This record gives sequence, structure tokens and C-alpha cells, in this order.
Amino acid sequence: MTSTRSALAVALLGLVLVGCSAGSPTVDTVGKVTFDTPLAIPPLAESTTDATGRHTFALTAQNGTTEFTPGMRTQTSGFDGSYLGPTIVADRGDDVRIELHNALDEPTTVHWHGMHLPAAADGGPHQLVEPGARWSPEWTVDQPAATLWYHPHPHGETANQVGRGLAGMVIVRDEPEAALPLPRDYGVDDVPVIVQDARFVDGRLSSESRDYVGVLGDTLLVNGTVGPQFEVTTDVVRLRLLNASPARVYNFGIDDGRDLALIGTDGGLLERPYATPSVQLSPGERAEVLVRMAAGETARLQSRDVGLGGNGLGGANGAADRFDVLELVASAALNSVGTVPSELVPMERLDDLDATAERRFVLDGLQINQQPMDLTRIDEVVTVDATEVWNVRNNMALPHSFHVHDVQFQVLTIGGDPPPPQLDGWKDTILLHPNTDHRIIMRFTDYTDPTTPYMYHCHLLQHEDQGMMGQFVVVEPGQRAGTIDPGDTHDQH
Ligand code: C2O
Ligand code: CU
Ligand code: CU
Repeated sequence: MTSTRSALAVALLGLVLVGCSAGSPTVDTVGKVTFDTPLAIPPLAESTTDATGRHTFALTAQNGTTEFTPGMRTQTSGFDGSYLGPTIVADRGDDVRIELHNALDEPTTVHWHGMHLPAAADGGPHQLVEPGARWSPEWTVDQPAATLWYHPHPHGETANQVGRGLAGMVIVRDEPEAALPLPRDYGVDDVPVIVQDARFVDGRLSSESRDYVGVLGDTLLVNGTVGPQFEVTTDVVRLRLLNASPARVYNFGIDDGRDLALIGTDGGLLERPYATPSVQLSPGERAEVLVRMAAGETARLQSRDVGLGGNGLGGANGAADRFDVLELVASAALNSVGTVPSELVPMERLDDLDATAERRFVLDGLQINQQPMDLTRIDEVVTVDATEVWNVRNNMALPHSFHVHDVQFQVLTIGGDPPPPQLDGWKDTILLHPNTDHRIIMRFTDYTDPTTPYMYHCHLLQHEDQGMMGQFVVVEPGQRAGTIDPGDTHDQH
């Protein structure tokens, strides 16, 4: 069944390349959104601390109903609630343990997107949790301060489960970040902005695919709020932008074109703020930006002029769509957060002369290197502590993306050119431009395990569900990959 569906999708992808440059109907909500609902702020996840200092967070994945607009009840899912989940905050060096309870009526997993941790704790498709069962991964947080997130990853069901609301933010803190004069009062001047697009049909969340990439909705949800308004009380506000949408690429900016200060990307802070009027995010990517506000003003976060690399794509993947996203309303008097730093954190540059392996990945026809995902096949074997260059090619005229578990990488070149400043920091997910090579570099430290793989995949959720994914293990020098027990992968559809 899966292979029939994939074959059909491949055929359709061929068609879209020939016939689609006129694009699908454009969604344009600019000027049409009524911002009358206070932005929901996900609660901070509570934890208990045991005698060894370990922090335990309990999370329950559950079904529920959500009233996105008054009087309309929608079937949704969330962690500890009916939609989305609490924000988990952890310090570098913390030992953390999660106690996940699956109260859904289907198997799920929880993946810690962007986190460096053992493969068995990663929550990929091999760490399946049956309905009613519990799962308790543990690890030590050991990476720079960053905005990460968590979401289910059961093979073939990720788009469904994330699309119903199973996602949440993770904030990692560390001493270098804490020493900087940045806004960090959660929900006050340091604000999670989880952006998803949805389409409601008779009160239900539609899962209908558009442009062969998945759901491209016409209603934006920010932290699950439709028409969100946030009251700003400081002269500078820090937004932690997370694109948790199944397929849509955004280009975020303020309606009057003022500069944002981009201070962080997927894996942490940049070396210095980058002033830019717009920040592009494909599904799974994050950005931390500072927005300067004047007392009493109203500013709108929008998404416009997405631009997916030309090639006659027209409106494919919603590239022509425009949105009003979030209204920021500044109080009549603002507290000052002080001078924004001009230097942030030093960043170690990885050097391709140090790379001991160069691998090539070609994304084409919902496959990577001409193979669909096979949960029992280990595609790549990486030696621990190796620095590797991965040359990732999108061989199609449609955009895809590329996400690697376990590591943060640096972008060396895109189409032979150095990356734009937006992609100059630590990344775990990037948009792949059509018919272009992307060279990325990373180091695989810690956590060897020859039989439990990490994933790499397109983060358009429908594509990853359809098999645009591969698996790698990290092993000791000289060690071989083991065999994945097929029992491990039962019942996943
Ligand atoms: Cu955000 Cu493999 O996923
Ligand atoms: Cu991930
Ligand atoms: Cu894709």
C-alpha cells in the first residue's frame, strides 16, 4: 500500500513539474485577519528534581477538542492538553528524564528535534510507544543555548500527528547566553512563536494535500491561536520563531519593513546579530529575532515574498501566498531591556580539510539515493568523532528540505556559493533549493550504538512519511553496523 501510494506520488511530482507553473490558488490574508485573541503562551513544563539532581518531566500525549474560534469545536491532540504542549526549559549540563505516557489510541513517539542525545532516546520511528504504554528516555543536555522542539515521529504518521497538534518547544539555556543582555523573561519579552497553517473544513482540520507537498492551510495558528495579538511591554522583544507547519515555507518580517535582529538559528546563537527585514523558515527550522518597538505602536508580523528559488515554480508550495501572522501591540510606556549586544557568542568553524568522509545524498522522486526509507536498512555508518561533509542535492524543480538528527551542522556552500548570513550559524534543517547542491559539515560526537539508527530526511512531513528518509548509525572506530531487529519495526502503519 505504501509503495503504491509512493509510486503515485512520484508520478504526480513528474506532472507538477510540467504543468504547474501557473500555480494553485493563492492564499493572501494580509489585511484580512482580525487580531482579537490574546496570543496563547504554552505553559512551562513542570519538573521534579531527585536526589541526584536529575530533572524529570512528565508528558502525556492525548486527544481532545479545541475551540480555535468561538463556537467551533475541533478534534485535536496535544501534550498535557488538547493542542500543542508545554515548553521544556533545560540548562546545559542538566540530566533530564522524560516520562511519556501515550494516552492516544494509536502508537506514537516523541522526537527531540535538534537535540544531541543517544539514538535510543531520540524518539525516532524505532522508539515506538504503544497506546497506553510509557517511555522514559534520559540524557544529559550538552549543547549551546538554543530553541529546539519536540514532535512525534512514527513512520508514516508524523504528518497526521503533528498536524493535529502534537508539538512543543524546548529552550536550552547556558552560561554564555545568560551573560548577554538579551530579553529572557518567558512569555513577557522572550516569546515562543509556533507557527502552523491549517485548513478547517466543517470544523475539522483538513489533511488534504496541495501541490504534492502536503497540507498548505489558509488559516495561521500561532501557539494554537487564530488572530493572535501580543501586548509588548518592553522596547525590544525576542521572538522564538518555530515553523511547525507540515509543508509551508515562510518569510517572516514586520509589515513596515523594519529590520529584525536575527540572533540565533536552529542550533544556537550567531556570532553577532544580523540586521535583516526578513527571515525565511522552512518546516522544522527556528530563528530567534529581536524586534524593536516604540511605545504605543502596533506592528504586524507577516509572511511575504517567500521565493523558493525560481525555476518557473510559480505558486507551487504556496510560494506566492502572503499572511498576516501576529499583531504586536506596544504599551503606552515600555520598559527598557538595555542595549542589545553587538557580539553574541564565538562559534567554532568546522573545516572541510578536517573531514574524513564526504557523502552524497540525492533527493529525487520521494527517495534519497534512489531508495525509499526502509526501517530495517542502515544506510550510512559514521565513526564517532568524525567530521564529515555531506553533499545534499535536490534533483528536482520542487523544493525539499534536509534535516539531520543528533548533530548541528554548518552550511559550507549552496550551489557553490557561501551561505547567506541567515544560514551562517548552527543548523539542523535547511531548505533545499531546486536543482542545487548543498554542502554541509558536521561532527558526530558521543553516543555510539551500532544497532539504533538516527534519521536524516526531508522535513516536509508528507514527504518524510512517504519515505524520503534514511538512517545512520554512529559506531566506534573499526566497529560495524549491527542488524536492526525487524520486530522493532512492527505495526507502524
Ligand atoms: Cu523534526 Cu526527524 O524530525
Ligand atoms: Cu529531528
Ligand atoms: Cu520533500
